[in-house]
Amino acid sequence: MSTLFEARGITKSYALPGREPLHILRETDIEAREGEMITIIGASGSGKTTLLNMLGTLDSPDGGTIRFEGEEIFGGGRYHMTKKELARFRNRRIGFVFQFHHLLSDFTALENVAMAEFIATNRLQPAKERAGELLEGLGLSERLNHLPSELSGGEQQRVAIARALMNRPKLVLADEPSGNLDSENSLRLYELMAGLSKEHRTSFIIVTHNETYAGMSDRCLRMQGGRLNPCLLQD
Ligand SMILES: Nc1ncnc2c1ncn2[C@@H]1O[C@H](COP(=O)(O)OP(=O)(O)O)[C@@H](O)[C@H]1O
Ligand SMILES: [Mg+2]
Repeated sequence: MSTLFEARGITKSYALPGREPLHILRETDIEAREGEMITIIGASGSGKTTLLNMLGTLDSPDGGTIRFEGEEIFGGGRYHMTKKELARFRNRRIGFVFQFHHLLSDFTALENVAMAEFIATNRLQPAKERAGELLEGLGLSERLNHLPSELSGGEQQRVAIARALMNRPKLVLADEPSGNLDSENSLRLYELMAGLSKEHRTSFIIVTHNETYAGMSDRCLRMQGGRLNPCLLQD
């Protein structure tokens, strides 16, 4: 499998007025192969979300380099793209799944998944068709016309995953996607993501607080002291 992205020596500090700067990331390295599912665990406040935001180009590191499909996209303290190019890159290559699904409450599951592509292409039918296929693949064929409020927490998160996969991203970043679910639904969600990473050859980087789910990935990393190290999971 080839390397999808490589982040090397990523640093990030927050300077708060009148206080010592907070060094959140200290020369952190992470890379992912195509179709690889990686989980990141670590204490609250250790910098997991900060790192994910940088991999998703939502925030800028202070230093280090990020290469995506062999091409350097960040280095020398800046992204090598304009804001507009960066937004386009993000929309095309990266899917996001958050702890809370952030689905639009007035729209059905199908509409939520189809929305971004419909807006981008102005063609409703193809967007709905692909959205329907994705939702069916995630076991939601009976829920296409339900509003988010008519879905269980697990179903809402599966809709959010379908939405993240809509643009055929190379990389899906998920920040505690099961944070709001019971253990049975969480397990189901991780099984689904493991399957999807192989089926779609999409890399998944998933922040989780649960070592059981971390063990279901190809590789687990622990954020500690501003760096990522391989997890030592108890079997
Ligand atoms: N914009 C910010 N300004 C100042 N401090 C921040 C900012 N964003 C995050 N932090 C701090 O960085 C640390 C890491 O945050 P975060 O990446 O959200 O941790 P995690 O996701 O691992 O719980 C926390 O101590 C947090 O308070
Ligand atoms: Mg976080």
